[in-house]
Amino acid sequence: MNNKKSNKNKQVTKAIIPAAGLGTRFLPLTKAQPKEMLPVVNKPTIQWVIEEAIDAGIKDIAIITGDHKQSIENHFRPFKKLEKALEESGKLEELDKIRKVNSLANLKFIIQHEQKGLGHAILCAKEFIGDNPFAVLLGDTICTGSPNCTKGLARVFEEREASVFAVEKIKLEDTRRYGVISGNQVEDQIMLVDKLVEKPEPEDAPSLLGIQGRYIFTPDLLVHQEKTNKGAGGEIQLTDAMQSLARESKLYSWTFTGNRYDIGTMKDWFQSHLELSIASEFSPIIKEVLKKL
Ligand code: G1P
Repeated sequence: MNNKKSNKNKQVTKAIIPAAGLGTRFLPLTKAQPKEMLPVVNKPTIQWVIEEAIDAGIKDIAIITGDHKQSIENHFRPFKKLEKALEESGKLEELDKIRKVNSLANLKFIIQHEQKGLGHAILCAKEFIGDNPFAVLLGDTICTGSPNCTKGLARVFEEREASVFAVEKIKLEDTRRYGVISGNQVEDQIMLVDKLVEKPEPEDAPSLLGIQGRYIFTPDLLVHQEKTNKGAGGEIQLTDAMQSLARESKLYSWTFTGNRYDIGTMKDWFQSHLELSIASEFSPIIKEVLKKL
């Protein structure tokens, strides 16, 4: 009985993908097209993110979206008219492709009616999380690497039985874009975190380690999130709830060494497209294009 309980508490089977932002950093591209739906190689960004979660053994995924972002849900739900047309015209390969997308995972869509920040988005999934550990994967960020970022975090979570999130080295001039943290090194790549500041000025940054968009939490994070007031940018911040959690429980950071693409910047969007195309079945096409430049 006890064994069952502790396994349940260590195994991460749920994930939240916040994807409700207004995309104000990437206009006009994201006016009618959600940032998470921007294509990278041959699928939308958010599909890369969902596939990362699935590859880490996660089956139940809640996407926190906005009422202006219907196309995200449309991409993952069956489109009977199209399926019928493909069936009738014998395009069975295409039919198989879209059916696969419809059955990737158990997806649940939760609408965040007001854009009050990442912490508020997490709280929208309170019922979905229940009393389970959960992963958070930002819906506009693609991570590649082996193991994949969420899988790497799940290993640390299982070993340490405590919340953990991924960090990477950032530049001093970029501290205003990230949650920035500090703590004590306990193992290669792993730190016991004691300080977290959301988007500090360079002179206030506790280090140059930035929160990179992948997390695994014990359910008590929600207790802290509920007590969190508005923070940086007038928004309810996840980083502030993590700071509160770190005062009462162990909270670890894990330095991720794979690639991260923030599909909210032109540079990372272009780079993801090129690098991931080269690593894909489309490699000959992209190499041919590049040769002509
Ligand atoms: C969010 C988090 C921040 C993190 C960043 C990574 O900020 O609040 O702590 O460093 O993602 O991209 P946002 O980019 O949503 O402003």
